[in-house]
Amino acid sequence: AHVVCQPCFGCKYTDCVVVCPVECFYEGEQILYIHPDECIDCEACVPECPVEAIFHQDNVPEDQKPFIELNAEMAPQSPSITEKKEPLAGN
Ligand code: SF4
Ligand code: F3S
Repeated sequence: AHVVCQPCFGCKYTDCVVVCPVECFYEGEQILYIHPDECIDCEACVPECPVEAIFHQDNVPEDQKPFIELNAEMAPQSPSITEKKEPLAGN
């Protein structure tokens, strides 16, 4: 599966959610999550993120590994997001 990592935190550009064919993005207050059981690894979302926050789970940088577990834990208990909205980062 793919994983939303540190650069998304406090940004939430949400460009990623509109391209996902299986709508597996879920929204936390500061960051988005990908549901690992729903992601089909199509990679459509990867180039959409302006801050390069999305990685395949095997390619998550060492210092961001905790995000793998965070996505898996939080996605199932967060609301689905499928439409782009105003980012948190005001730029
Ligand atoms: Fe969705 Fe594809 Fe990104 Fe997985 S890799 S979250 S299926 S767009
Ligand atoms: Fe976050 Fe990038 Fe999507 S900042 S909301 S992973 S486009």
